[in-house]
Parts: sequence; structure tokens; C-alpha cells
Amino acid sequence: MRVKLVAGNWKMNGTLASSQALVKALLPPLSALKRAHYAVCAPFPYLAAVGQALRGSDVALGAQDVSQFEDGAYTGGVSGAMLADCGCRYVIVGHSERRSVFGEGDETVALKYAQALKHRLTPILCVGETLAERESGVTEEVVGRQLNAVIQRCGLAALAQGVIAYEPVWAIGTGRTATPQQAQAVHSFIRGHVGDRRLAGSLLILYGGSVKANNAAQLFAMADVDGGLIGGASLVADEFVAICSAAQGAKETVKT
Ligand code: 13P
Repeated sequence: MRVKLVAGNWKMNGTLASSQALVKALLPPLSALKRAHYAVCAPFPYLAAVGQALRGSDVALGAQDVSQFEDGAYTGGVSGAMLADCGCRYVIVGHSERRSVFGEGDETVALKYAQALKHRLTPILCVGETLAERESGVTEEVVGRQLNAVIQRCGLAALAQGVIAYEPVWAIGTGRTATPQQAQAVHSFIRGHVGDRRLAGSLLILYGGSVKANNAAQLFAMADVDGGLIGGASLVADEFVAICSAAQGAKETVKT
């Protein structure tokens, strides 16, 4: 069985006080939801405090990025070892904002993925096409290329040790969610791309891009959608809890 995962990506939002208050509001309702897994990916400076606030709960801590380097003279960098030290279980790599705003290419993303695994963090690898790419019919080519960079550097088995998040760039922060059918089509392509049936069947594939309380259940009901990576709605406790409840309500998927 693939157990669903819902992860909040807080991006560069909030304060120390608001981050702690958000966790405080999330924990009682989330601790009652036992049939899926949950995580929050906080900004670097708040990881320790958010980790402290999560202690003893089933909600995991995640970071939003990791350096591709091990350690040393990389001003501003945050290493996998540091994230592990702060209690992180997950780390997002290759988010489209990192790719487009900070110029990260497929090879850098693959190096980050490798660093995450080296430090026993679960990488959440983001893949997805822009609107122009979708409209010109190259969605599968783009997503396939993004996956191949990681497969070539880390190996196919390593892909199954992480989590994939399909995040169409045109759906991020736009209010324009992919339809459940559009998400399912790309998720199914991703699973097929892995090739190996056993690995593909165990791979968690999240959907991200304008997931809200009112559309989560339909997305999570799709056969190859194993949960969500939630941006804006993860900053509002009631909204995030409602999305997490939708994952709880969705059936666990039997491995193919
Ligand atoms: P929104 O949910 O705000 O569209 O952001 C999605 C996202 O980028 C999660 O990583």
C-alpha cells in the first residue's frame, strides 16, 4: 500500500511567532488523522523551533532546499548534514521557483537529490512543465528529462527512495489547478517512466499547484495521486487541515 503524504511548503513566509502558532494550531487536528502522513517544510531559520514544536507528534519536519555540496566555503549554503542535525526528515529539491528564479539546472538538482539521500533525508523532487511547454505538447519530454537527470546520477533505486512532486509551473500560486485528469495523466506517465514495476508501484507521487480544501479530494481520489505538496493553503491552519483530511478520506492505493 502507498500511504498518502501531504506536505506544506511554507516558502519564504511567516515569522518565528507565526510559524510556532501555525504548528500549535495544526497539531491537535492532525494528530487525530492517522491514515496518512503529514509534513511541514519551514524556512531555514525556523527549522529548529518548528522541529521543537513538532516534537512528539507524527507530523514530520522538512526543509525547502539543500546545498549540492557537502560542506566548506559555500557562503549562504545549507548542507544535508545541517538539515539532518535540525531534525528534518524531508527536503524539497528542484522546486520550480529554485529552477526559474535561482537558475538551478537538472544537474544541480540531481546533485542536491544525492546529498539529501546521503544524509538520510527523503528528497521531494519537484518536476513540471511551464504553460508554454504544455501548450507545445512537450510536457512528458520535460518531466522525463527532469527525472532522467536524477536517475542518471543516483540510479533508479534512488528515485524510489524519494518522493516525486508533479507541480505544473502554470498551476503554482495561480489559482489554476490542474484538473484531476490532467494530474492523473502526468502521474501515470511518471510511474510508467520508472519502468521497473516494483519500484514504480512503491513510488509516492504528489501533486502540487493551487491545491485547496475545495479541490483536494478530487485530486487525491485519482489512482496515481498519492497526496499533495501545498503552498499558499498550507499557511492557513484550517485550510491545510481540511486538505490533510481529504488525504485521510482517500483510499490507499494498492501497489500495481
Ligand atoms: P500553491 O499551492 O501556492 O500553488 O504552491 C504550490 C507549490 O509550489 C508547492 O511547492
